[in-house]
Amino acid sequence: MKTIALISTAGGAGRTTLAAALATLLARAGREVVALDLDPQNMLGAHLGLDELPPSGIAQALTGAARHWHDHTFRNEDGVLFVPHGQVTLAEAAACDAQLAAQPRWLERALGEIGLPETGVVLLDTPRYPSPQADHAVRAADLVLCVTPPEPAACATLVARLAALRETCADVRLVVNRLNPAREMQRDLLAMLRVASHGALLAQRIHVDAALPEAFSRGAWLFDEAPHSQASHDLHGLAHELDAWLPAKTADVTA
Ligand SMILES: Nc1ncnc2c1ncn2[C@@H]1O[C@H](COP(=O)(O)OP(=O)(O)O)[C@@H](O)[C@H]1O
Ligand SMILES: [Mg+2]
Repeated sequence: MKTIALISTAGGAGRTTLAAALATLLARAGREVVALDLDPQNMLGAHLGLDELPPSGIAQALTGAARHWHDHTFRNEDGVLFVPHGQVTLAEAAACDAQLAAQPRWLERALGEIGLPETGVVLLDTPRYPSPQADHAVRAADLVLCVTPPEPAACATLVARLAALRETCADVRLVVNRLNPAREMQRDLLAMLRVASHGALLAQRIHVDAALPEAFSRGAWLFDEAPHSQASHDLHGLAHELDAWLPAKTADVTA
């Protein structure tokens, strides 16, 4: 079982969208997938098919209101098993942060309780880095995917954190999301990221597509509604890259 954390230093970078899309596409490719929402925004469930924000999840285990972190687990129609964050008040969010600070190996231990086969994958959605949740995710992950829009502040804050991220997780890669290649500034930022990341920038970028949030608002996936769009092609490409990075499935080995 491998763990992949999606993090970013900017809000609205596309972590939740990519976590849900990758979970869905990897499950459809025959992987056993678990998705954990570590973000108090509690939105991953909505991307994975829930109609309402789930009231309970990981947060309730951290505050002592639930017995286990996996008490409130859902399986969606694509077969993704996911554990929501759960709704929290400001005080409960602070209590979760305090628990995570007091138990630096909390997430690592929780992941150790997941009985996925070697070929399975756990995807972690996180609040903005740095945060206690993102810090746990980076330390527990085999691969950290840093999602960034090609915008100056997002890229600058990510580059400033790269050395610290690399010290925490051996495999750190950058994914550019919401790319508009017609904008010269974005092309310049891509070149800057390529140099600053010393080869960790993934060639597979995700282009901007207004149809992606529109599909989400209808409870659908762009790659189902418009499978030949550039962004659908990009999402499939990224999922394919991760599938190739994961241990080969039996079907692949015997094929
Ligand atoms: N490639 C894209 N093209 C267009 N909109 C996108 C793209 N990726 C994400 N979005 C939209 O950007 C917004 C923020 O995405 P989200 O995944 O919630 O970011 P984060 O989890 O990093 O805060 C959402 O409305 C989402 O639908
Ligand atoms: Mg999010």
